[in-house]
Amino acid sequence: MADSPYPELKKTHVPERVGRPWTDHKPPPSAPVWAVISGFGSFHVLVASLELGVFDALAARGAGPGIPPEATAGELAGELGASARHLEALLDSLAVLGLLERVGGCYGLNDTAARYLTRDGAASMASLVPVAPGPLENWSGLADTVRAGRPAEPIDDDPASFYRPLAEGTFTTMLRAATRADLQVRYSAMAAPRVLDLGAGGAPWAIAVLKACPEAQAVINDLDGVIDVARRTTVEHGVADRCEIRPGDFHTIEIEPEGYDIAVLGHVCRTEGPDGAQKLIARAWEALRPEGRLLLADYFVAPEPQWSPHCAHMGMTMMASTLHGFGITAAQTAAWLHDAGFESVRLIEPIGYQYVYVACKPARSSQGAP
Ligand SMILES: C[S@@+](CC[C@H](N)C(=O)[O-])C[C@H]1O[C@@H](n2cnc3c(N)ncnc32)[C@H](O)[C@@H]1O
Repeated sequence: MADSPYPELKKTHVPERVGRPWTDHKPPPSAPVWAVISGFGSFHVLVASLELGVFDALAARGAGPGIPPEATAGELAGELGASARHLEALLDSLAVLGLLERVGGCYGLNDTAARYLTRDGAASMASLVPVAPGPLENWSGLADTVRAGRPAEPIDDDPASFYRPLAEGTFTTMLRAATRADLQVRYSAMAAPRVLDLGAGGAPWAIAVLKACPEAQAVINDLDGVIDVARRTTVEHGVADRCEIRPGDFHTIEIEPEGYDIAVLGHVCRTEGPDGAQKLIARAWEALRPEGRLLLADYFVAPEPQWSPHCAHMGMTMMASTLHGFGITAAQTAAWLHDAGFESVRLIEPIGYQYVYVACKPARSSQGAP
């Protein structure tokens, strides 16, 4: 007889047969618990390595003619002014984490480290890593936050000091996402679009459109204390002369009605809670001309959070450190967009882990905004 196409179902003790909650005959391994415990140390191993300049030191070796990219712990310790024994332990941990090569006692960059962990890497996350989890004290106080329903020291009390380094740290990744998004959004085919970028950070979205469309113009908004990041990045990318910087709270700044072809809400909705997020979507709707498009980027949680671990964890990070932030689901966001009157709503993933809803404001004749 032919073998079953689903060998799992020949077993008797599987969830499909015995139902849930499923429990095994034998005790489970403790590996998932250890993975969590070592996650704390892993984060600090990476942060310390970035702080010491491990990846850049290895990259610099590759740059010189005749200098092999690999180094022993002793050689690197000499360069970095560190204890050789301690540095070796750190380098071994990086190798275990898959963030360095280790062959025969020599260490070298692997592709992941070269791309993401060197300052000049093509997709450097070097300045993002230390700030990405938010204030670390909020993680140690997480149980209190869950009891009280709010963190003791929310970043809302001093947003600029948190968001400024975050805007710096996420810029490279978001610029890649925004640039790649053109393959699906085709903003480069627009003649002279006007862009509104709310909570722009370093303005990766506005910059991507301005670089693709020589006649485009942008209004770039962020809070005082953060907006300087966009002032700098727009100069560095040669588009500052087509940008108006409009500092202030995105809920209250003045926005010209029907003045824009593209409105961007890039990673701002999940910190706002449902009310704030829907208000921002309504602001974007009012700002757009008929047939204008909203680009709403975020980490959208799947119907079962386990299906989107990264997004669920980003939601958790918001909960740990903000007053209103939680994960937002894809279904919830799509419903907000439809309720606001948007049509042709679609979800794109321009680069891995980066998701964007693209939603069109209908042409005037069929406009039916509530
Ligand atoms: C996660 S960052 C996203 C930056 C950028 N939009 C992107 O996609 O990379 C969120 C940004 O929203 C800004 N922001 C938060 N609350 C704001 C408010 N009430 N008004 C204006 N900007 C705000 C922060 O300063 C920060 O730069």
